[in-house]
Amino acid sequence: MGGSALLVRDLSAGYGPVRALRHVSLEVPEGTVVTVLGGNGAGKSTLLRAVCRTLSFHGGAVTGGTVTLGGRPLDRLPPDRVVAAGVSQVPEGRRVFSRMTVADNLRAGALGGAGGRVGRARALRRVHELFPVLADRAGQRAGLLSGGEQQMLAVGRALMGAPEVLLLDEPSLGLAPLMAARIADTVREINEQGTSVLLVEQNAALALRLASRAYVLEVGEVTLSGPADELAASDEVRRRYLGVVDEDAASDGAATPDGLPSLSRWKG
Ligand SMILES: Nc1ncnc2c1ncn2[C@@H]1O[C@H](COP(=O)(O)OP(=O)(O)OP(=O)(O)O)[C@@H](O)[C@H]1O
Ligand SMILES: [Mg+2]
Repeated sequence: MGGSALLVRDLSAGYGPVRALRHVSLEVPEGTVVTVLGGNGAGKSTLLRAVCRTLSFHGGAVTGGTVTLGGRPLDRLPPDRVVAAGVSQVPEGRRVFSRMTVADNLRAGALGGAGGRVGRARALRRVHELFPVLADRAGQRAGLLSGGEQQMLAVGRALMGAPEVLLLDEPSLGLAPLMAARIADTVREINEQGTSVLLVEQNAALALRLASRAYVLEVGEVTLSGPADELAASDEVRRRYLGVVDEDAASDGAATPDGLPSLSRWKG
């Protein structure tokens, strides 16, 4: 404990002439949840793609900087080797293979992973414990699952790689508050089981409650970072990302009456 699981140093990336990340540095200490906040187009998804080496699938490229996991550089690895090294991503928009069964989706997630047959069986047990519905629906086509269930499958598929670090790109997007809260509980549970998490969220209130540390990304640059509770209390973050306009609204914004996280959306 106390080491740095994932270290991003001076990372720059872009899509052709579009510079999407400029000299971004951040750290996910071992065993923690770290969140990256930022408006639409800030570069959050680009950051996760750069870390897991899938940027080229989107027509982008890393132009500078380094990413290391436990001191080991990931910079030259193909995406499947990044998974084998211990980093799995749940991409934006919960892309499950909709015509494949739930079971086959999970099997696909284990492809890059290390650990062999025993490791895969252990990972599948863990996924079924976290999301019993995925065991119940194992033989069903993934496209028939509800949005929330597809998000569970997307998270489950990433966990099949038995990652040390899980990258989550807006897992609550488009989900009803209750389902978003369930996903948040699961992220906490996954973390308590020892997996570090780098969480990108539009839902800043939810993200800041889960994370110990937060970074704010604006037009490709880190403009603010610190302990999540300090950022949650900062005027700028409250105004820009929590949609808080005054003290009264602040207390309303912290939680809904039934204790569920509020769903403040980005204002811009
Ligand atoms: N495939 C792509 N081709 C060209 N430009 C892209 C591509 N994907 C993203 N961009 C550009 O890169 C910048 C960062 O986009 P990115 O998707 O990383 O932002 P984001 O923070 O994830 O936004 P959102 O909250 O809307 O998902 C934006 O200017 C965006 O237009
Ligand atoms: Mg995005």
